[in-house]
Amino acid sequence: MTEQRTRASLADADTILSVRNLRTYFYTRDGVVPAVDDVSFDIRRGEIVGLVGESGSGKSVTARSIMRLVPVPGRIVSGEMIFQGRDLVGVSEGEMRQLRGAHIGMVLQEPMASLNPVLTIGDQVGELFAYHPDRAPDGSRDDAVAEILQRVRIPDAVRRMTEFPLSFSGGMRQRVCIAIATACRPELVIADEPTTALDVTIQAQVLDLLLALRAELGVSVLFITHDLGVVAEICDSVAVMYAGKIVEYNDVESIFARPQHPYTKALLASLPRLGERLAHLPSIEGQPPDLGDLPPGCSFSPRCPAAIDRCREQAPDATAIPGASGSGHVRCFVAADMLAAGAATANAAPSGSTP
Ligand SMILES: Nc1ncnc2c1ncn2[C@@H]1O[C@H](COP(=O)(O)OP(=O)(O)OP(=O)(O)O)[C@@H](O)[C@H]1O
Ligand SMILES: [Mg+2]
Repeated sequence: MTEQRTRASLADADTILSVRNLRTYFYTRDGVVPAVDDVSFDIRRGEIVGLVGESGSGKSVTARSIMRLVPVPGRIVSGEMIFQGRDLVGVSEGEMRQLRGAHIGMVLQEPMASLNPVLTIGDQVGELFAYHPDRAPDGSRDDAVAEILQRVRIPDAVRRMTEFPLSFSGGMRQRVCIAIATACRPELVIADEPTTALDVTIQAQVLDLLLALRAELGVSVLFITHDLGVVAEICDSVAVMYAGKIVEYNDVESIFARPQHPYTKALLASLPRLGERLAHLPSIEGQPPDLGDLPPGCSFSPRCPAAIDRCREQAPDATAIPGASGSGHVRCFVAADMLAAGAATANAAPSGSTP
């Protein structure tokens, strides 16, 4: 444990969150559901990391684990989440309350679910400073709130802060949620499908806003989405989730140019053409597995065109992808064999030859 913690915290001086071997299980009457199973990834300062996968693959449970808001009957079973030198798995609930909102902000898919309909927008943004006085700006609260609303490009902010959420459009409400999530200048924002409920034009505006805030505030973002098109637009690296595990994790260029896992390849093959945008991932043949009743071996093997006998018997461990920065990895026997064969060929090449 100590050794692991040292390794994680030494991963990269610029790493603000290092998730290692995280397991979050639900203990239901029908059995144990491994919703997040041995998940590892890093988020560096100012980096936007995409977490992508089909419905039910464990994306939101990963986000809730980081916020330490896993609903009963779920709980974090093991692993670590080093955030600015502290392991979030072990910190007290009181400490966690100080971190949520001030150091880690969260934006959800449905803005109305996180806004209070009977409080003005100004009060909802300003309320944060009562919880986190150390992050409150100097000067008047109203001036600070207006500035924050202007930062998320809400026109006529001084007047609109006196209005209630219901008089805002869907896109404007999502801007308010982003204002709340970033008001205290957190180091990390977790955005769980923040654009899925919006129409395409508004989606594009919200993505542009997140990119602008990253540039202005240097904030890091964990961006959860179904949509690989969105990933291509704003993410620096991508973790592809399948049945509670990250099956491939790498920088965005490598994922798109040289996908290693058959599931990533299938997702890319079914990506809509340029300009199209789908609300859900295009379907891949077969059904995602029931996490409470996983097949033996690799969970993707029943749907995998590349599966060999071994895949149906044993679950593959994570294999580091050569040349990947940080902790880029793939979880596939076939991909690991191909990577090893590629490395052997490269090593066998006569010196001086060009790759
Ligand atoms: N309250 C719960 N009780 C029992 N199991 C749960 C609960 N919440 C989630 N799970 C299990 O965790 C799995 C992952 O759920 P999660 O919400 O993380 O999926 P997701 O990837 O965010 O999907 P979506 O794209 O639909 O939001 C579910 O498939 C389910 O098996
Ligand atoms: Mg979800």
